[in-house]
Amino acid sequence: MTFLFNSDARRGVIFADAFARELPDVPFAMDAATVDPNAVRYLITWTVPDNLARYRNLEILFSLGAGVDQFRFDAVPTKVKIVRMIEEGILRMMQEYVTLAVLALHRNLPAYVTQQRAGEWRDIHQPQAGSRRIGVLGLGQLGKAVLDRLKPFGFPLAGWSRSPRRMEGVTCHHGEFGREQMLATSDILICLLPLTEDTRGFLNDNLFAKLPEGAAIVHTGRGPQLDHEALVAALDSDHLSAAMIDVTDPEPLPPSHPFWSHPKIILTPHVASVTQPATAARAVIDNIRRHRAGLDPTGLVDRSRGY
Ligand code: GLV
Repeated sequence: MTFLFNSDARRGVIFADAFARELPDVPFAMDAATVDPNAVRYLITWTVPDNLARYRNLEILFSLGAGVDQFRFDAVPTKVKIVRMIEEGILRMMQEYVTLAVLALHRNLPAYVTQQRAGEWRDIHQPQAGSRRIGVLGLGQLGKAVLDRLKPFGFPLAGWSRSPRRMEGVTCHHGEFGREQMLATSDILICLLPLTEDTRGFLNDNLFAKLPEGAAIVHTGRGPQLDHEALVAALDSDHLSAAMIDVTDPEPLPPSHPFWSHPKIILTPHVASVTQPATAARAVIDNIRRHRAGLDPTGLVDRSRGY
């Protein structure tokens, strides 16, 4: 019963240490060439290896990242459980990034940076947090963690998910109608949704038109969810005021892409949140324990939903 780690050795040694301590009866391997493929029960990887079929006894395929859109589900036998990475480090980093983005947009940072470059000393009208409404698309672990972290600032908080959720201090919307309601009341809209056929391209002119005049966007979902041209058009027409973008399509963007130099866009290179090996190893070990106890792993992917 082997655990196969298919990623860089720097992170691998941290996983190996944790496995030796916590699950000594599960042999840990980092070199696929030296393991008996029939022994591999657990595999962690960023993308599905071409030779997955050789692991005939595979039980769980762990994603190294929070997303699983890089996996081709049809290449993974249905008896294999696919598990997203949900771990403290990813949650904490996403909380930091979204807080940074919300505060930057709330306090007009992109406009002030532009003024600085132009040598202009001028204050911009500053609404108070109590009147800056935040809407988070996606109320999974990441969305909830982010909303929790934003609570002390006093922004009116809302979140949207496909099915009903409850969260103290947050107006929760769901379904098609709920989404329209939340969009109409989001001065800062944060996208934390997974990439699925439903969300591909959905941050488009149609959606932007539903946001209040002057709204801002934080995009930490996946690049293909965003219509890049529509965003530039919405910013240039002043319907949207600014955007903080961490994910694009493609990554990296070509040198001539307008996002690089757009004065209303702050662009970061897909760094909002990164799996942290020590906490990720703990999460994976917990999931193997759950699986062995007959429980579903945390982050189990529902293939029909796509996440
Ligand atoms: C990063 O984007 C991840 O999926 O963890």
